[in-house]
Amino acid sequence: MLRSLRLAWHRWTVRRKMDRVFGRGADPYRYAASPYETARLDAMEAALSGRRYANALEVGAAEGHFTRRLAALSDKVTALELSPVALARARTATDGMPVRFIEGDARAFDGAGGPFDAVVLGEVLYYLDKPLVQDEFEQSLARMAGWAARGGLLLLAHGFADARERARREYYRSRFEAMGFLLVSERVVSVRDGDITPSCLVSLLERL
Ligand SMILES: C[S@@+](CC[C@H](N)C(=O)[O-])C[C@H]1O[C@@H](n2cnc3c(N)ncnc32)[C@H](O)[C@@H]1O
Repeated sequence: MLRSLRLAWHRWTVRRKMDRVFGRGADPYRYAASPYETARLDAMEAALSGRRYANALEVGAAEGHFTRRLAALSDKVTALELSPVALARARTATDGMPVRFIEGDARAFDGAGGPFDAVVLGEVLYYLDKPLVQDEFEQSLARMAGWAARGGLLLLAHGFADARERARREYYRSRFEAMGFLLVSERVVSVRDGDITPSCLVSLLERL
């Protein structure tokens, strides 16, 4: 009971925060203007390119910047997003593309429409990786592992600002490795963006 209340409260606060962020206007994370974000999305796309996906899944699609790229590599895409404000923009951004959107919490997704031959978790796991809902986070990693088809790919891409955050991003990858995924490739994208040089760990894994 207490756990489900904590989860509901966490979901409500994140959705409210994201609706506020996206409600301030389009592209709050400066994806269009930031050389770092462009390089990160390019690296994610490059990791997946060279193959065509019959049935792809993106978790935390936001305004659809990566969804568009994924849709170009795929016959169909399922895109999960918690914020209805972001999701409305993602729908517009992918108009005419074979994308099915699901509004809601990834922790409540049952994998319907799967298994998926590409699963993309880009800048999303750390929204779930919070002490208040840590048990649910660990359980959701196990469920996410099950969404990928055998032989399917899992792409992880999460930014970090320091060694502690990088270690946590490596932990995400190691959890999937412990659940039957093989690391195919991994790189750090690091690009100067104004006064800062953000970095992102981009890891591609295959489900054995
Ligand atoms: C920073 S954006 C990442 C967008 C894109 N995946 C990328 O790589 O650039 C993170 C998105 O995840 C969404 N999100 C956060 N928690 C979520 C959850 N529990 N279920 C589904 N989406 C969630 C947020 O609303 C936000 O739009």
